[in-house]
Amino acid sequence: MPATVAVGTQFGDEGKGKIIDFLADRADVVVRFQGGANAGHTVQVGEDLYAFHLLPSGVLRKRTMNLIGNGVVIEPGQLLKEIDETRERGHPVKNLRISDRAHVVMPYHKILDALEEKLKGNLGAGTTLRGIGPVFEDKVGRFGIRMCDLIDPETLRAKLRAIVPIKQRLIEAYGGDERLDAEAIFAEYAAHGERLAPFVIDTSAWLDSALRRGKRILFEGAQGTHLCIDHGVYPFGTSSDCVAGAASVGAGVGPQFLTDILGVAKAFTSRVGAGPFPTELEGPIAEHLRERGGGEYGTTTRRPRRVGWIDLVMLRMSVRVNGLTALALTKLDVLGGLDRVRACVAYRSDGETVKEFPASMRLLSQCGPVYRDFKGWPEFSEGDWIGIAERGRRALPETTRKFVAFIESQLKIPVRIVSVGRSRAATIGR
Ligand code: GDP
Ligand code: IMO
Ligand code: MG
Repeated sequence: MPATVAVGTQFGDEGKGKIIDFLADRADVVVRFQGGANAGHTVQVGEDLYAFHLLPSGVLRKRTMNLIGNGVVIEPGQLLKEIDETRERGHPVKNLRISDRAHVVMPYHKILDALEEKLKGNLGAGTTLRGIGPVFEDKVGRFGIRMCDLIDPETLRAKLRAIVPIKQRLIEAYGGDERLDAEAIFAEYAAHGERLAPFVIDTSAWLDSALRRGKRILFEGAQGTHLCIDHGVYPFGTSSDCVAGAASVGAGVGPQFLTDILGVAKAFTSRVGAGPFPTELEGPIAEHLRERGGGEYGTTTRRPRRVGWIDLVMLRMSVRVNGLTALALTKLDVLGGLDRVRACVAYRSDGETVKEFPASMRLLSQCGPVYRDFKGWPEFSEGDWIGIAERGRRALPETTRKFVAFIESQLKIPVRIVSVGRSRAATIGR
């Protein structure tokens, strides 16, 4: 049974949460497979807005099981807060399971994240301060605490006794004055473990059996291709692999199941945090893109997002490294109101045309955009889009359809889903 993987194709915040929630009505299982509480995925149901950091975005669909795979790093207090808040809003969250192999974000990871950012100076990515870099460092360095340890007090205490003194020395070496107390951390985290224990299973084995029974699985990526640790803008991205292949590793399923790879892309580009951004805009058009249609402010940190035109150099690379088979294009409504819209088709650097996204930050910073201009759809305002979505793809303004067709021709994959607003209703296709 083929499974669908939905991944971000830009710098994150493409609208993955909205698209996953939309597709989840026909999925049996939604699986997060990488990232952590650095993610902020927005789902709107009616007038209710939800922002999920660790809960998979299918959690509001009662018949859909939601898994947090081994590739995710879990901040237990944050996850419990999300479960509690979602329950208070009328959703029982019985449809959740967590991998026993997922790594746990500990308090010292968040302390070290802040210290490392300060020490890195211009190399800092402007992280979400969720401890993501340090917890992945520990995973790879084999200092990590996993969910199976969190729910086993004896192991948790023994591991903390060994690890905490090392982290204390690291904090001091980094110039921090925080004091770690292994027993206090143990008490707090053992209590989290007790509450989370009923959710913890071998999610890979569970998924294997679901796939064999023909269940429909939806893998929910976090962050985006250009934040990926391997393929992203290094070092200004995150610490996990964000591409489709990571779904196999981060959920413990064979890659042969991952046949339908949906890239989620905004009709423009946005970025929170530091790093080169070739199509970045300032001024009135940037204001328009940032303020229209719900606003571009970080879901996790509330920082205003940097914005710019859609960048097809970036997206062509995303098609390649993910093996995208289709695109979900979001926020077309936000381009409404503009007389002209632009798409970057290549870069110019030193008089040369650059068609592949450079690895070197120095070369990338020298790249300027080459644009193709399109007539906009200025007559359409925020109130028009639900009606258009109800009538389907052909109801889209002709100028919009031309823009979408150009993106398809450049990327050589179909735009399967078009999103024109935050709500489920403002979505065309599947
Ligand atoms: P994610 O991290 O990829 O899930 O995206 P975020 O939720 O962080 O950011 C996307 C933002 O755009 C959220 O505020 C969504 O509610 C909103 N959004 C998603 N799709 C659309 C769309 O088609 N139009 C508009 N106006 N907003 C959208
Ligand atoms: P979703 O899943 C946008 C960015 C941070 C920072 C860099 C590293 O909502 O798309 P980290 O805390 O991961 O060490 O920060 O990556 N970043 C995101 N930007 N959306 C996200 O997730 C992000 N997760 C991390 O702003 O520049
Ligand atoms: Mg987000």
